[in-house]
Amino acid sequence: MGKTFKFLSLILFSFAIIISAAGDADAKKKKKKKIPKSPSYVGAVKCNGSCHDSYYQAWVKSPHGNTYNLLKPGVREKAKKRVKLDPQKDYTSTPLCLRCHTTGYRQKGGFKPAGTMHKGKDRSTKIDPEEPNLEQVGCEMCHSVAGGSQFRVVMKNTKGDFKKAETEKYGQRWDYANVCTRCHTHKKTPFKPDVHDKYKFNFEERKLKVHDKDKYWNEDNEDQKLEKLKDRTKEVSVSEKTPLVIEDFAVKKGKLLFKGKSMPYNKKKKSFNYKK
Ligand code: HEC
Ligand code: HEC
Ligand code: HEC
Repeated sequence: MGKTFKFLSLILFSFAIIISAAGDADAKKKKKKKIPKSPSYVGAVKCNGSCHDSYYQAWVKSPHGNTYNLLKPGVREKAKKRVKLDPQKDYTSTPLCLRCHTTGYRQKGGFKPAGTMHKGKDRSTKIDPEEPNLEQVGCEMCHSVAGGSQFRVVMKNTKGDFKKAETEKYGQRWDYANVCTRCHTHKKTPFKPDVHDKYKFNFEERKLKVHDKDKYWNEDNEDQKLEKLKDRTKEVSVSEKTPLVIEDFAVKKGKLLFKGKSMPYNKKKKSFNYKK
């Protein structure tokens, strides 16, 4: 009798431990995440996560989800010849090209080409052909100033119920027409409107091709439709009123260097630079 009792209480005790541990795990999940100290790039796969699947799927199929591949030999030969680039050359490690064809190159958390070594270790970005990420022009090249690590946490903590200003202070940008000129018509792009008419840039026309997301809603992701989208369109953010400055850069001794004054985010002062 005594033995059975001991046995039973042991079982009950174990259950109590298991249940309280599960409770702890739940509490941890619900706890708000801490916002990182400084912004860094996280990659499109993280923006997809459990939040923006349809946007991600649409982006993979869009021109921006394939920009890295244009740097490979034999791709778009005619276009390359027209601007005196070598169509047989591999440009996937060429600093100038990486600035506009990948995400966050030479910035914290950003893309690192093959052969990037640090303290004897290979730090180059792993590329999964099935799942485009940092190696293409990702979400953060249009939606962020210096990467989305901080405002992503705000979005998650508020479950999408945030005001533009709340994410803007962490580097989400809303100056869409302006942000395109980080690459399109930028003075450092080889593909300028004077080379070919197709490089002319009309924002209103082009923006329609950026997010063809409506095709990609399904049973699994329909709960990700943005409930606060309409409320946000009524709000006018700072960067919509005064667009951020656009980066200028040059390649010196094989390294891409940004010109300090042209940076939209000042890392030291943690402040933003707007156009005058
Ligand atoms: C300042 C940004 C910028 C830089 C630097 C840049 N590109 Fe691009 N590239 C673009 C943009 C923007 C487009 C799309 C232009 C358009 O369709 O209007 C583009 C398009 C292309 C295309 C497709 C052109 C076509 O008509 O099919 C190729 C190929 C390409 N880039 C290769 C390169 C290579 C190689 C380098 C480096 C030598 C490079 N790019 C450097 C911004 C840039
Ligand atoms: C080439 C630039 C560009 C890229 C890359 C891009 N977006 Fe966008 N995104 C836009 C523009 C422009 C709008 C505004 C669309 C409009 O006004 O029709 C937008 C709107 C959105 C919105 C609605 C925001 C709101 O509250 O109004 C979400 C969400 C979004 N994008 C997510 C993503 C995700 C996730 C990715 C990456 C998988 C991504 N975007 C990649 C340019 C871009
Ligand atoms: C970080 C650089 C970068 C930024 C920022 C960027 N683009 Fe692009 N965009 C490219 C490159 C590179 C291509 C070339 C893709 C190709 O030819 O396949 C391209 C191609 C496109 C195309 C396809 C052109 C075509 O007809 O095939 C559209 C549309 C476009 N961009 C719209 C936009 C809009 C709108 C914005 C701003 C909201 C924007 N882009 C911001 C780099 C950029």
